[in-house]
This record gives sequence, C-alpha cells and structure tokens, in this order.
Amino acid sequence: MKLNAIEKALMNNPVRASLQRWYEAPLLERLGGRVAGLRVLEIGCGRGVGTQILLERFGAAHVQAFDLDPDMVEKARRRLARYAPDRVRLSVGNVTAIEADDQSFDAVFDFGIIHHVPEWRSAVAEVGRVLRPGGRFFFEEVTRHALDRWTYRTFLEHPREDRFSAEEFVAECERHGIGVGANFRNRFFGDFVLGVGRREPARRTS
Ligand SMILES: C[S@@+](CC[C@H](N)C(=O)[O-])C[C@H]1O[C@@H](n2cnc3c(N)ncnc32)[C@H](O)[C@@H]1O
Repeated sequence: MKLNAIEKALMNNPVRASLQRWYEAPLLERLGGRVAGLRVLEIGCGRGVGTQILLERFGAAHVQAFDLDPDMVEKARRRLARYAPDRVRLSVGNVTAIEADDQSFDAVFDFGIIHHVPEWRSAVAEVGRVLRPGGRFFFEEVTRHALDRWTYRTFLEHPREDRFSAEEFVAECERHGIGVGANFRNRFFGDFVLGVGRREPARRTS
C-alpha cells in the first residue's frame, strides 16, 4: 500500500537518507558483503536513495528498481538521471508480481517495504523466485512490534492484519529457499530487523 502524507514526509527527507546511508547500508554490508559488478533488484525504491547506495557503495553494475507509487518513481528518476541508462532501470511495479524472469538477479534489496504489503508472504515468494541460486536477499524490515505501537497506528498507515516478527519474516524467507539462519539482527527494541539470506539451489522434487 502507498504511504500516507506523514510517512511520505518522513521518507522523503535528509534524515531518512542519512539513516539509510550511514546506519542501514553499513550493517547490511557487514552481514552480506558488497555486490560489485552484479545485477541487482531494489523493491519499493521510494525516491531512489537506496538505488544510489547500491550503485556507489555496494558497487552494483546494474540496478533495476520499482515502486508502487508513480510519484516516488518520478522522484527516483530525477535523482538518478545522472547515471547511464545501462546502469539503472526504474519502473512502477508491485512486489507481489515482479516483472522479471525467474532467477534473473544476483541480489535483491528491501529497504523497509514488505511490511507495507498486505500479502507480504507473496512478496517474499517473489523475491525467492527472481533470485538466482546463490543470490543474496538484503533486508531491512519493520516488525509487528513497531506497527503495534500507538505512534505507528495513529500517524502512519499500514496493513493491520497478519504482520510479522523478525523470526516469522526469516522463517518465511527460508520457506522460499532463502537461507538466513542467524544472519539477522534485531534493532531498536525489536522494531526493526536487518539481515541477509542466500538463495539455495533449487530443491529436487523427486
Ligand atoms: C517505507 S517506504 C521505503 C522507501 C525506500 N525504500 C526507503 O527506504 O526510503 C515503502 C515504499 O514501498 C512502496 N510500496 C508499498 N507497497 C508496495 C508494493 N506492493 N510494491 C512495490 N512498492 C511498494 C511505497 O510506495 C514506498 O515507497
């Protein structure tokens, strides 16, 4: 679901960008390494700060990024206009039906989007589908613990039903063949979870 006006203001400002650049990205890099020369997907890219981090800090060769909100994609387009078209591709899209072939990415990044998706399990399944075997899923997510807080319920808009804890999110990744194990961290009293999983080779069915 799209952000309400308050959350949009919280996302589209320099404080959010600094948090992403100087806290989330370094922690994700410690957990999962860089993606130098690789083909990367960013889901729910917002105004494109994450994509810029993937190109510059993580060394991605090519980033495909999308967001449900055309307004956010337009902001990202302006921010990323300086990069050659063969390095960045932006579009409007929905994480529950990613427009990409199976196993087509070396890495997928999720900077705080899946908690916005009512069918969050379908989003995780789609990430598992588009990752190649051995590919990595980098995630920063907001847990039920945060979404149940009065501040979140009063000022922000999120799906109310069936939200996840850190462990439930990790278990869902594993169910879709993305092995995380203990490679995740709870932060801010359990409000956030950051981690990196690796897509296992396809399982034999017979
Ligand atoms: C909390 S914002 C995070 C934006 C950006 N990743 C960041 O870290 O600043 C969540 C983003 O996910 C997008 N979003 C929500 N539901 C989505 C969906 N089903 N598919 C794709 N994007 C979605 C929203 O439009 C919003 O831009």
